[in-house]
Formats: sequence, C-alpha cells, structure tokens
Amino acid sequence: MNLLITGGAGFIGANLVLHWLRNHPDDVVINFDALTYAGNLENLQEAKTHPNYRFVLGDLRKPHEISKAFSVHNVDAVIHLAAESHVDRSILGPVDFIQTNITGTFNLLETARKFWSADLSAHRFLHVSTDEVYGSLGSAGKFTESTAYAPNSPYSASKAASDHLVRAWCHTYKMNVVTTNCSNNYGPFQFPEKLLPLLIHNCLQNLPIPVYGDGENIRDWLFVEDHCEALDRVFQAGESGEVYNIGGTNEWSNIDIVRLVCKKLDKELDRSGDNSCEKLINFVKDRPGHDRRYAVETEKIEKALKWSPRYSFEQGLSKTISWYLDHQDWVKNITSGAYQDYYERQYG
Ligand code: NAD
Ligand code: TYD
Repeated sequence: MNLLITGGAGFIGANLVLHWLRNHPDDVVINFDALTYAGNLENLQEAKTHPNYRFVLGDLRKPHEISKAFSVHNVDAVIHLAAESHVDRSILGPVDFIQTNITGTFNLLETARKFWSADLSAHRFLHVSTDEVYGSLGSAGKFTESTAYAPNSPYSASKAASDHLVRAWCHTYKMNVVTTNCSNNYGPFQFPEKLLPLLIHNCLQNLPIPVYGDGENIRDWLFVEDHCEALDRVFQAGESGEVYNIGGTNEWSNIDIVRLVCKKLDKELDRSGDNSCEKLINFVKDRPGHDRRYAVETEKIEKALKWSPRYSFEQGLSKTISWYLDHQDWVKNITSGAYQDYYERQYG
C-alpha cells in the first residue's frame, strides 16, 4: 500500500510515520508536509534511512501539489493530520487556519475523489480531528460521538468545518472515510508552544510559566504513541462513515498538571526552595473564549476496535520529560525561528 500521511513532520504526524514504518514496514509511507514553523524534518531521522519512506514538500493550499503527489506516488490511502493546530495562534491570526484546515482539507478530498474515482470504496481516507469541536463541558459529563458540535475557537471551528466536509464527501460521493476526534496529546516532538513542552522548556530556561486565568481549566491527556495506535486501529478496522472518539480517561486541571511536572523536574534537576520550578508559576490573563473542560467517552473505540491506552500517565510523562531533557538541541533548533516572534507577541 502507498499511504500518504499529511503533516508527517509535525508532532503527531512524525510519531505516526515512525509508528507506521515500524509496524507496517512493507507499506510505502509518503509524508506530505509544507514544513511550516511546526514541521521539522529532524523529527524523522529514524525514517530517513527506511527504504519505504518518502518525503514530499507540499502545501494543501495548492491543489496541484497534492495532485502531483498522488500521481507520482500512486497514492492508495490517506491519513490526514496536516493542520494549523494551536488555539492561541488561531486567536492571534485565524487566516492560516481557514486556508489550511478548511480549504486544505477540501483540496485533499477533491484530489482523492478524482484520483480514486474508479473505485472509491477501495481507498481509505482517515481524517484526524480533535475533541475541541464539541465545545466546552461543565463539571460533569463527557463528549460522545453524538455530542452536537459547538466549536468555540477559530482553531476548533476550522477543524469542525473540515470534519463536516469529510462527512459530506462520504455521504454524497460515498468516499470511504473515517474520522477520529482525540483529546490533548503529549509526548516527544511536540512544539514548545503547547502547555506541556512549554512548561518543561520554561523551567529549564528559568522563564515564567504562564498559567491562564485561574488554572482550573481541565483537559484530558493522552500519550501520543497511544493515539498513533488508535489511529492504526481505526484505519485498519474502523467502519466507513463512522466517527471514533479517542482519549486517555485522564483529566487534569492545568494548575495540577503544572505543579506535578514542576515536582518531577525539581527531582530531575535537583532543585528546591526558592530555586524550585513552582516558583516560576505565573498566573496571566485568561485566553479569550477559553474552554473550561474537555473529557471524552471512549467506550465506542474500546468495544468496537479493542483499543485502550497502554501508557499510564506516570509512564507517559516520565518518557516525555526524559525525552525533552535529552533533546535540548532539538528544542533549541525549533525555537530559534518563528517561535521567538510568537512568544514575544504573546507574553511580551
Ligand atoms: P502540529 O502543528 O505539530 O503539526 C502540523 C503539521 O502540519 C506540521 O508538520 C506542518 O508543517 C503541517 N502543515 C501545516 N499546514 C500545512 C499545509 N498547508 N500543507 C501541508 N502541511 C501543512 O500538529 P499536531 O499537534 O501534530 O496535530 C496533528 C493533527 O492532529 C491536527 O490535525 C490536529 O488538529 C489533530 N489533533 C491534535 C491534538 C494535539 O493535542 N496536538 C489532539 C487532537 C487532534
Ligand atoms: P494547549 O496545550 O494550548 O492545548 P489546547 O488549548 O488545545 O487544549 O493548552 C492546554 C491547556 O493549558 C489550555 O487550557 C490552555 C492552558 N495553557 C496555559 O495555561 N498556559 C499556556 O502557556 C498554554 C500554552 C496553555
């Protein structure tokens, strides 16, 4: 099979490319990525020497670049992850989110539909999305696959729009599509603008740790390798036209997770007292429209596809912290460009 993975140089995409080559070494994996600030080929060192790995520098906003990739590589199936993915950036400037997440997904669907027109049902299209499309929860309840969409940020609205396009292309044109909506991921290769890697980075650099609002917003956290395994399972065995929620059943308030990571880092770095990481915590102005709580009901994927996370939070977090401590050069390289401008605009 020739599998096109979009966004394979990003956080989840790179983990998925590596997962795929390790677990399906006979498949050809074509990584289609525009290498925005979030894409980094350093993430794919291990893939580079694999005989079945290909890289295509391509932009979903340019339909001819997608068509070319399909023709040159005779693409059989797609897993679509490429997106603008950071909520704060979407608030500062939503245009790239509209163009990549909505128009880009449309361009990809149309290319796939035309290229596979001889037998659409034979070609799988897995669309990777987020639980943020469902909006915000109060203190009780969880998102299920039938929760009504109520996106609140430009990011989640653009992802919701892309989910609807995918659904319509299945319903109208009978494309063989599946959609996944996953909760917050953490792990190696995550760009240090998202909470966990930002927090680790700032502790190491002795910079303030910005905690938005009262710090009581709640997220459900899943280790990225568990997400990759779920995507594999959905790709192989998910039913066409179905949606599967993915999550870690692992809810944490932001302030609790920040304190937990600070404690772990104090141990690793031998810090205490006035020097401890917690001293860097800095409550800042809340994110506009900040969703209060996300939580995902994962019964469907657990029962239908026999998936559940393998990593405990303890294991996933330890692996993540060790990875960042061991990859300071990676952090230095990725934060030396676009991130610096963004950080200054955001935090002054
Ligand atoms: P990321 O920002 O780390 O990576 C995105 C990748 O897409 C980058 O490599 C970037 O270069 C590429 N890209 C961006 N615009 C492009 C374009 N126009 N054409 C081609 N490539 C382009 O994102 P991530 O955190 O790995 O998320 C991947 C996907 O998973 C996204 O669709 C996101 O919505 C979804 N998701 C993420 C999370 C999470 O916690 N990170 C949770 C649920 C779902
Ligand atoms: P983030 O990693 O941006 O993911 P998302 O907004 O997609 O859930 O943020 C996770 C949570 O952490 C969210 O409630 C916002 C909060 N947060 C902070 O308090 N400070 C920060 O510097 C960042 C980046 C996030």
